Amino acid sequence: MYDQFNRRINYLRISVTDRCNLRCTYCMPEEGIVQIPHSQILSFEEIVEVTKVAVRNGFEKVRITGGEPLVRKGIVELVRMLTSIEGITDFGLTTNGTLLKKFAMPLFDAGLKRINVSLDTLDPNKYKSLTRVGTLSDVLEGLEEAKRVGFNPIKLNCVVEKSSSEPDAQAVKAFAEANGFIARFIPKMNLDEGVFGVVEGGEGGHCSTCNRLRLTANGTLLPCLFSDIGYNVRELGIENAIEMAIKNKPACGIANRTGEFYNIGG
Ligand code: 5AD
Ligand code: SF4
Repeated sequence: MYDQFNRRINYLRISVTDRCNLRCTYCMPEEGIVQIPHSQILSFEEIVEVTKVAVRNGFEKVRITGGEPLVRKGIVELVRMLTSIEGITDFGLTTNGTLLKKFAMPLFDAGLKRINVSLDTLDPNKYKSLTRVGTLSDVLEGLEEAKRVGFNPIKLNCVVEKSSSEPDAQAVKAFAEANGFIARFIPKMNLDEGVFGVVEGGEGGHCSTCNRLRLTANGTLLPCLFSDIGYNVRELGIENAIEMAIKNKPACGIANRTGEFYNIGG
């Protein structure tokens, strides 16, 4: 389906939970967040139905995000349900990697072949202070397991202050090259100011070619990360919500006043 600026909207990012097992400083306030009540979280059947309707309307690319998608109970089953939908040519998942050691094999067997893993530093102490509660070795072991079971490509999402020339980013880059992973560098967004940057080596951030809609864990379709407008699939009906989200996708994003990242998955 084309929007009013002639962009073909064919990429659906699905946040399957707003919960996360980390507390990254650039993503969440220390005291935690107001969580979406369980009653509002879409069921697997609803997520699958939204995806099917999207695919019927020309969507081809789907990415599972969070929060941290691997903390959603039954995620492997959900992945299996989604990968069996015909018409999706590109199916991926973005994770912080902390639970990958356990989940890599079952996810691969459920049909997921591409993953993006967040990795900002290779320094265990920095990793701990950045994520407040995370352990770097969990992620490194998860990546090793993902590689072993055959994920391809494995991309590393590395948040940088300004550019990939920073030492932590250079270390991630070297680590990626040594292991056959692809590193992508994401300038840190200031969520208060709504300042956003283009992902180095990624495809987001270019409004004129933006092809995505986001589905939040409680079923709101967001046309743009940098705008507050959203259309809830439960309130409006799936077909209608998709149509309205596409029709009202802004030409270019402005500051997102309520901006929080943990529930939209980047
Ligand atoms: N700036 C840039 N990227 C962010 N992410 C979360 N918060 C921010 C932020 N403030 C992105 C990162 C991370 C993913 C889960 O969300 O890419 O890897
Ligand atoms: Fe969790 Fe990702 Fe936010 Fe870190 S950036 S707290 S891993 S959702």
